[in-house]
Amino acid sequence: MKVLDKKMKYNFIIISSVLLLSFLISSCSKLNEPLPASPDITTHKTGILDQGSPDFHGKLVRENNWDLALCQSCHAADYSGGITGASCLTCHTQTNGPEACNTCHGDFQDSTRIAPPEDTHKNITTDSVGVGAHVSHLYENELGHQIECSTCHIVPDKYSDPGHIDTGLPAEITFGNLAVHNIAVNPVYNYPAATCSEVYCHGDWAFLKDSSDYQFIYVDSMIVGNAFSPIWNKVDGTQALCGTCHDLPPQGHQNAGGDPNATTCSGCHIDIVDANGNIIDQTKHINGEKNVFGN
Ligand code: HEC
Ligand code: HEC
Ligand code: HEC
Ligand code: HEC
Ligand code: HEC
Ligand code: HEC
Repeated sequence: MKVLDKKMKYNFIIISSVLLLSFLISSCSKLNEPLPASPDITTHKTGILDQGSPDFHGKLVRENNWDLALCQSCHAADYSGGITGASCLTCHTQTNGPEACNTCHGDFQDSTRIAPPEDTHKNITTDSVGVGAHVSHLYENELGHQIECSTCHIVPDKYSDPGHIDTGLPAEITFGNLAVHNIAVNPVYNYPAATCSEVYCHGDWAFLKDSSDYQFIYVDSMIVGNAFSPIWNKVDGTQALCGTCHDLPPQGHQNAGGDPNATTCSGCHIDIVDANGNIIDQTKHINGEKNVFGN
């Protein structure tokens, strides 16, 4: 009898512990599921913080069309954690947290580099053209005037602006400023071929003899560039060589094509090129202006 009593007491403790535990678990999981969302979101898998994992949260964002509002519904509007207690801002330390412009397509470590070294197509489609020539245009340009995103894209002020992520891949190309400069150029980006054509910067221009102060140099009614059509994702330097965008000197110019090493240009186009044919003042080359005799 005594022995049985002891056993019952024991059972009671075990059962009540189990009940208490399951009550705690169920109220916890209720806490964790305040809103209906896709199963992958409500129950994060263990790889959520592991960059090498197929369950990494970056991939989760991509699979949900880059819609950070989904994450905000649990992690709070300012990403500080909210009911989850898990803040995004511990790692996403830039202004605007995960919405910073370098988070999804820039250099994660350097908030000043927002152009793709990161391919937003990855794991989404296999026919991506990749990150292309962003770095050579924006950060390693040694040839000409500084280039902005707005030369080729409409730039959002905020990540949630219309026309940004809501439009889906591929990224929209909308040429502006220097790309559309000079004569009636009408630049076109051909998506399947990844080529640009009719771009001012790559030599789609004509300078007219009639309107020149230095008509003696013209051997034709105009001096023209080569209207070169570069391939966006061929980044081996061959498309930025002297003589690609315009001949040396250009067609319609005295001695057209007669100085392939560009050693004489410096005599007249002073401050722009040196006697070895190197560009010495980037701000005056591919800047939309005629620069000759120091003007
Ligand atoms: C423990 C650190 C850490 C926390 C916490 C964190 N992230 Fe990240 N996040 C990263 C890292 C690292 C990357 C990947 C950077 C890279 O690709 O080089 C990343 C990438 C991203 C990306 C880019 C997706 C892509 O692949 O292009 C988004 C968007 C993002 N995080 C949103 C969030 C949100 C929202 C939260 C909070 C709910 C959060 N992160 C919490 C470290 C973190
Ligand atoms: C339904 C609520 C909910 C939604 C929606 C949600 N999360 Fe979470 N998230 C949580 C909870 C709860 C945790 C803490 C427990 C865990 O790690 O699963 C968490 C943890 C995380 C962590 C780990 C943070 C750390 O420091 O351990 C990351 C990263 C994360 N979430 C990213 C995201 C991203 C990105 C989104 C949007 C695509 C998102 N979450 C949407 C509930 C949510
Ligand atoms: C000289 C023109 C040019 C400039 C300048 C430029 N882009 Fe692009 N960008 C392109 C082209 C071309 C593509 C490729 C479109 C395609 O075929 O997918 C592209 C694609 C992209 C993509 C998608 C890339 C991917 O791999 O998923 C992003 C994101 C992007 N650009 C952001 C930027 C940002 C941000 C800047 C400024 C910091 C910038 N671009 C400046 C021409 C440019
Ligand atoms: C949550 C991820 C994310 C953040 C944060 C983000 N972008 Fe993007 N961005 C993308 C994706 C994805 C694309 C390609 C989508 C498309 O084709 O429209 C893109 C494309 C672009 C493009 C190419 C033109 C276009 O709309 O396709 C530019 C320029 C750009 N982003 C600039 C910015 C700027 C500036 C910020 C900061 C204000 C920013 N992005 C923040 C994901 C992001
Ligand atoms: C990516 C295309 C491109 C390449 C490559 C290029 N140029 Fe030019 N160049 C231009 C354009 C566009 C102009 C028209 C004037 C302007 O906007 O500066 C120009 C004009 C010039 C001029 C006239 C002065 C001026 O800027 O008005 C000289 C001299 C010149 N280039 C020399 C060179 C030399 C030398 C090289 C090789 C180091 C070279 N270019 C490579 C696009 C190019
Ligand atoms: C004898 C002087 C002289 C030499 C040498 C010379 N140029 Fe010119 N170039 C001119 C003059 C003058 C113009 C007309 C500018 C105008 O119309 O205002 C001109 C116009 C141009 C233009 C179109 C307008 C502009 O300024 O962008 C280009 C491009 C150009 N030259 C490139 C070259 C290159 C490249 C070389 C060397 C391979 C070269 N030139 C050598 C005098 C010279």
